[in-house]
Amino acid sequence: MLEGLRRLEYRGYDSAGVALTCGDGTLTSAKKAGKLANLVEVLDAEPLCPSTAAIGHTRWATHGAPNDVNAHPHVVGKLALIHNGIVENFVALKAELLAAGVEFDSETDTEVVAHLLARQYEQTPDLTQALTTVVRRLHGTFTLLAVHADLPDVVVGARHDSPLVVGLGDGENFLGSDVAAFIAHTKQALELGQDQVVTITSTSVTVTDFDGRPAEGRRYTVDWDAAAAEKSGFRSFMDKEIHDQPQAVADTLLGRTDLQGRLVLDDLRIDESVLRSVDKIVVIACGTAAYAGHVAKYAIEHWCRIPVEVELAHEFRYRDPVVNEKTLVVAISQSGETMDTLMAVRHAREQGAKVLAIVNTHGSTIPRESDAVLYTHAGPEIAVASTKAFLSQITAAYLLGLYLAQLRGNKFPDEIAEIFEDLRQMPDKIQQVLDRAGRVREIARWMSDTSSVLFLGRHVGYPVALEGALKLKELAYIHAEGFAAGELKHGPIALIEPGQPVFVIVPSPRGRDSLHSKVVSNIQEIRARGARTLVVAEDGDEDVRPFADEVFYVPQAPVLLAPLLAVVPLQIFACELATARGLDVDQPRNLAKSVTVE
Ligand code: F6R
Repeated sequence: MLEGLRRLEYRGYDSAGVALTCGDGTLTSAKKAGKLANLVEVLDAEPLCPSTAAIGHTRWATHGAPNDVNAHPHVVGKLALIHNGIVENFVALKAELLAAGVEFDSETDTEVVAHLLARQYEQTPDLTQALTTVVRRLHGTFTLLAVHADLPDVVVGARHDSPLVVGLGDGENFLGSDVAAFIAHTKQALELGQDQVVTITSTSVTVTDFDGRPAEGRRYTVDWDAAAAEKSGFRSFMDKEIHDQPQAVADTLLGRTDLQGRLVLDDLRIDESVLRSVDKIVVIACGTAAYAGHVAKYAIEHWCRIPVEVELAHEFRYRDPVVNEKTLVVAISQSGETMDTLMAVRHAREQGAKVLAIVNTHGSTIPRESDAVLYTHAGPEIAVASTKAFLSQITAAYLLGLYLAQLRGNKFPDEIAEIFEDLRQMPDKIQQVLDRAGRVREIARWMSDTSSVLFLGRHVGYPVALEGALKLKELAYIHAEGFAAGELKHGPIALIEPGQPVFVIVPSPRGRDSLHSKVVSNIQEIRARGARTLVVAEDGDEDVRPFADEVFYVPQAPVLLAPLLAVVPLQIFACELATARGLDVDQPRNLAKSVTVE
C-alpha cells in the first residue's frame, strides 16, 4: 500500500493515510499530515494488523486544512473511506446528518460521505449497493473507495468525473487513480467508465453503473514499466525527466510515417472529411500545456493557413465561445484528467465542435470524452513541474499541423517530409543542449538568492519565455515573469533596474525577416538600463555577444522547431536554482500533479 502511495504521491502531498481490514471483524487505520514519509514513521513505530484488503490516500487539500484530522481515510465505526474530488452539496448533506445527531471530527466533505455510507450500509447490508445508493445523492466530482470490517476481502469504489483504474493481477486486484499505483504488480488494467461502481476482491472484479446495472470497463495493457517511474540515479524525478526529453520526443515521432514517407496518425479516430472542412482551431489547455499550444499556434497557422486560437480551458469554459461543427478544438493535457480542461472539452462538444485530445496518459478521461486522440509518448511524468510532457506536446501538435497540411494540400509532400526530417533530428539536438548544461547549472547556483527574474521572447520564443517564468516560480518560489519582448517598451521596461536578471530567447539570425535584429535591439535596451542579460541563442550567433552577460548556445534548428531546444536551459536553470535553495523540486508547495478539481 505504501509503495503504491509513494508512486502516487506526486498527485498530492498535504497528508497521507491508510485503513486496513484485519480479518477478525475489526478495522485499523493511521493518517498523518505532511508527506508520506510522516505516515511511514508512524507506521514504523506502530505497525497495523496484517490485512488482505486496504485503502490508502495522499491528499491535496480542498475542504479543510491539511492536518491530521482532515487527512483521509475517514473512519466511521467499522467503515473507512477515501475520496478525491469535491462534493459540492456537502453542506446540505452535512446539515441533514447533523439534524440526525451525527457528530463530525473533521471539516471535510469526505467525512460527510463516510457517514452517509456507514448509515446506508446499516440499512442495506451490501456495501456495493449501499455505495450505489449514496453516490446518486452526491453532486460534484469524486472517486471514492471504501472498506468495511465485516468484509475483510472487499474494496468498493465509484467514480464520477475523477479518475479510477483497476489493476488486474493474479490472485490480487488493485484500484488506483493512476496505473503508477500498481505498475510494479501488473500491467493489465481496466479503465472504468464515467459513473461506474466497482467491487474488487483478490479474485474478482465487478463493475456496475450508478443504477446497479452490469457495466464494463475497457481492458488495456500499460506500455511502460515500473523502472520508467523510478529516478534511475538522478537526484530528482524532474532532473530525470529533463534528461528523458530526447527519448520523449523521439517516441512521440515514432511510427508516424508510412513506407512512402506520408504522415499517418493511426490513433486519430476522426473522419478525414471533418479535418478537411475545419475552418478554425481552438487550443484549450492549462499551464504548461497551454504554452505548448501557444507554440503550436505559430506552426499550424504557418503550415495550414487555418486560424488558431489558444485559450486557457477555465476561461473558455465560462464564456460564450464562438465554436461550431467546423471548429476543431484541440485539448492538450499530460494527465488527461485536468478538470478545467475536461469541462472545456464537454463545453466545446456541446456547441458542436469536434474535439481532438493530445494526451500522455492512456486510460484517462479526456481522450475518452473526445472525438479523437493523439497520444504523446513521453512515459510517466512524476515530477509536478512538467518538462518532457511540454516537449512531446509541442511535437504531437506539430505532427497534427503537418498532417492537416498534408490532408488539405497546403504543402507539397516533399516539404512535409523535409519538416518531418528536421523534427526527427531534434532528439539529438536536445541531447546536445543537455550535454552542455554545466554552465546553466553554475549560473543557477550563483543566483540562488535572486528575488526576481524576467524572461523575454518573441514569436515562438514568447511562449518559451512564459514557460521559463512558470518553471521558476513554481519550483523556486521567486517572482518570475515572461513577456513578449516587443511589449517591453509598453510598460514592463519600468521593472528594469541595475542588476535585474533577464533571460532573453533570441530567434535564429537565419530566419527570413528581421526578428533577430529586433530582439538584439531589445537586449541592448534593457542592458542600457542595467539589466543582467542571460541570453539563449543559436550556435554561431555572434551578434548577441556584446550585449550578453552570459550566452547559452543551443544547436541550430528551423525557427519553428527552436522552442524544443530553447526551453531546455530554462528548465535546467529553474530546477538547479530551486535545488540550490534547498527546495523539493519534485513536489513544490501547494501544487499537485493532476488538478482534478475546478
Ligand atoms: C506546470 C504544470 C502545469 C500543468 C497544468 C496542466 O509545470 O505542470 O501547469 O501543465 O496543470 O496539466 P495537464 O497537462 O495534466 O492537463
